[in-house]
Amino acid sequence: MEPGEPFYITTAIDYVNGHPHLGHAYEKVTADVIARHRRLVGMDVRFVTGTDEHGIKVQRSAQAQGVDEQTYVDGLAAEFLAAWEKLDLSHDDFIRTTEARHREVVQRLWERIHAGGDLYEASYEGWYCSGCEAFKTDKELVALDGAAEARACPIHKRDCEWISETNLFFRLSAYEQALKDHFAAHPGFLQPTSRRNEVLAMLDSGLSDISMSRESVTWGVPITFRPGSTVYVWLDALINYVSALGLEGPLFDRYWPAALHVIGKDITRFHCIFWPAMLMSAGLPLPKVVFAHGWILSGGEKLSKSLGNVVDPLDLVDQLGPDPLRWYITSEVRYGGDGEFTAARFEETYNAHLANDIGNLFSRVLNMAARYRGQVPPARPGKEPAIEAAIGAALAEYAEAMEHFALHDACAAIRRLTATLNEQVQAREPFRMAKDESRAEELDGVLHALLAGVRTAAILLQPVMPGSAAKMLAALGAGREPVQIPADAAAAIGGLEIGTALKKPEPLFPRLG
Ligand code: MSP
Repeated sequence: MEPGEPFYITTAIDYVNGHPHLGHAYEKVTADVIARHRRLVGMDVRFVTGTDEHGIKVQRSAQAQGVDEQTYVDGLAAEFLAAWEKLDLSHDDFIRTTEARHREVVQRLWERIHAGGDLYEASYEGWYCSGCEAFKTDKELVALDGAAEARACPIHKRDCEWISETNLFFRLSAYEQALKDHFAAHPGFLQPTSRRNEVLAMLDSGLSDISMSRESVTWGVPITFRPGSTVYVWLDALINYVSALGLEGPLFDRYWPAALHVIGKDITRFHCIFWPAMLMSAGLPLPKVVFAHGWILSGGEKLSKSLGNVVDPLDLVDQLGPDPLRWYITSEVRYGGDGEFTAARFEETYNAHLANDIGNLFSRVLNMAARYRGQVPPARPGKEPAIEAAIGAALAEYAEAMEHFALHDACAAIRRLTATLNEQVQAREPFRMAKDESRAEELDGVLHALLAGVRTAAILLQPVMPGSAAKMLAALGAGREPVQIPADAAAAIGGLEIGTALKKPEPLFPRLG
């Protein structure tokens, strides 16, 4: 995490066969938290998200609506983009797989792989899940209630289709050893480490070659060296990570290989086996880290279009702005594990963390300082050891957690700081000091330390709740630019300028219910 170091971070690109839902939002927001954090420590961040618009699933959704594919995907891509704007994502680019810039890179990359001798023709038949856009092995299939045979996808709970075609195959098996070596040499390639075993087991059980062309799917990138065929949607979509930079040129030179691909745990096989093998075959360097987050569940089921339990994140965002939802999904789910979303838990967390704890502390401290002093009073270094220690601990714990993508621990570090500050208000009773002229210096010191504490909390909140943190920092005299994270408690305390005029703050998080 060196200042100036390039940090290219991507998310999975969403299928546009339905509206954006909380599962998609979860991934995009958490990636945004990481991107914003890396910018605040001075890294040169490029953050890209986008939409996956080809394939049989999208083609059929368009047909079901009775519109042509391009009109259909244009409408949904606009919806995804609008959702991410509402959620305050700070992406630098939004890549769509139907864009010409993407199509060209897909074609050139596959031409390279072809020229290298890694493609051959063969026929294939098997069970295909259009929800996953992937073939399923017999072992993976399950029997639906009442069905005699196991033919259904366990994720989408729908029968698979039997597909039989002559296709071009990519020699995935040729990369088995190279992938094993890569995993051995780079223990941090797939995080959290609990996910590594799944992929290592896939490698150990042996890799089969994969079909990369489709004759039956017209809605895809045409293969230049095989007229009448399109690229299998996954082997088109993965290339977005490169096409968003261009296959050559300044962006590619600066940002490739990616520092971090953020994806869901259901698609590790594609990102940790297919994608690195394609890159090896094309002679390109591999991404440094793939982080697989868990699922947001609702009543124990993964949210998805096909299951029909879609929670529209925008309903909450329309009502409360993006920050409460951003806080909930970042702080309440251990990053890497699964999390449950219920309206009741959301409301409980909002009231406990945001209204009562952070919001209340902030308005109490600012109101006291504004009322008793009107401006930031002078510090008394070393005289407020409890607050100074809490600031130092929060900065250290937060930095450590963020470095290892433990976003929930970073939020917990902020909450420990605000809890200590709340306790200190109770214990030190600045409101009593204010009534006693002889304690003026002591009051200056405690108010200064509390202000430095809430300012530190606001700085650390910026990646998670950018809008609210900016309001908090503005009330403390900051400009419009994000405030960089101070290195230690002394820098945090020194960052508060004595004499800055303070105003009564507007309430940040009015209680719900
Ligand atoms: N189009 C592919 C990804 C191609 S990346 C080159 C895809 N699309 S998706 O729309 O099904 O999912 C997009 C991302 O959202 C995936 O990383 C997936 O894991 C994530 N999520 C979808 N539903 C989710 C939850 N309910 N919870 C958390 N994340 C989930 O896969």
